[in-house]
This record gives sequence, structure tokens and C-alpha cells, in this order.
Amino acid sequence: MIITYKKLPKNFSAKKLKFFYDEATPGKTFRQCGSIIKYSSVIIGAFDKNALIGIGRALDDNVYAFLTDILVKPEYRKKGIGAEIVKMLCNWLVKKGIKIIHCSTDKKLAPFYKSAAGLEYNPNNITLFLKNF
Ligand SMILES: CC(C)(COP(=O)(O)OP(=O)(O)OC[C@H]1O[C@@H](n2cnc3c(N)ncnc32)[C@H](O)[C@@H]1OP(=O)(O)O)[C@@H](O)C(=O)NCCC(=O)NCCS
Repeated sequence: MIITYKKLPKNFSAKKLKFFYDEATPGKTFRQCGSIIKYSSVIIGAFDKNALIGIGRALDDNVYAFLTDILVKPEYRKKGIGAEIVKMLCNWLVKKGIKIIHCSTDKKLAPFYKSAAGLEYNPNNITLFLKNF
């Protein structure tokens, strides 16, 4: 199996992105997928031939960045694909001059982010979030 990685272009199909989310973790609307493509600073996609099988994305303001939606289709997990996506995202952000990259995640995934791109777990930080629905 040959997996290729690329930064998704701004004209990437929202339909294709929705197809991926629907298979990996349902819940995103077509409109949200369009918005994700438009407003994400960068989306790295992993492809098996032409099929999108993993993504990771970031939002940034040239000072701080926030990683989100790091997601690999279940049947492709544990093959190093997620780590490659996180590494490419962080490299892209660091190249852009970003100094601090945030990522909110489950505690048990901290080693994954550490080994993928050196992201450090800070036990003194907590993440607060508001679910507005
Ligand atoms: C998290 C996720 C992206 C990892 O992708 P992946 O392609 O399976 O990860 P990799 O194969 O690159 O794993 C890299 C390392 O992290 C470890 N790892 C991966 N998933 C893990 C998990 N759920 N718990 C603990 N460790 C994990 C692997 O064992 C591997 O360690 P190793 O290098 O010592 O062998 C994938 O499991 C996923 O899509 N999960 C559901 C969505 C999710 O939780 N995303 C994170 C939101 S913050």
C-alpha cells in the first residue's frame, strides 16, 4: 500500500471531504466541509490512490496555531499515517514562523503527539470549551 500526502488545495471538493468525514466520523454537513476548506490555514490529506483516507488541519493567525481534526480512517490506523500528518502540519506551521502550536486532545493520545512532532503535554494546562448546541 502506497500512501501519499499533500496539502489540500483551496478548491478541494467539499463533497469529497464530506465523504471522508462521513466514513471516518459522521456529523459534518456539506456547508461545514466547505467552510473547513475555506478557513483552515492548512489541511494535510493522506491518500490511498485517489481516496482520501486521513486528514489533519490547523488554524493560525501567524502567531499561534491550533491543530484539529487529526483523523485517520479506522482501517488505516496504526500504520504511521496519523504521525506523518501531524509532522507535516507542524513543519508547515513552523516554516511559517509560528512559535506556539496548541492541540486539545485526550490525555492518552499525548504520547502520539509527542512522538509525531514533539508536542509536549503540560499537566498544568486544562482545556475549556463551550458547546453551543
Ligand atoms: C489518533 C489517530 C489520528 C492516530 O492515527 P494513526 O495513523 O493510527 O497513528 P500512527 O499509526 O501514526 O501512530 C503513531 C503512534 O501513536 C500511537 N497511537 C496511535 N493511536 C493511539 C491511541 N489511540 N492511543 C495511544 N497511542 C496511539 C501508536 O501506537 C504509534 O506509536 P508508536 O510509534 O510507538 O508505534 C487515529 O487513531 C484516529 O483517527 N483516531 C480517531 C480520531 C482522534 O481521536 N483524533 C485525535 C483527536 S485530538
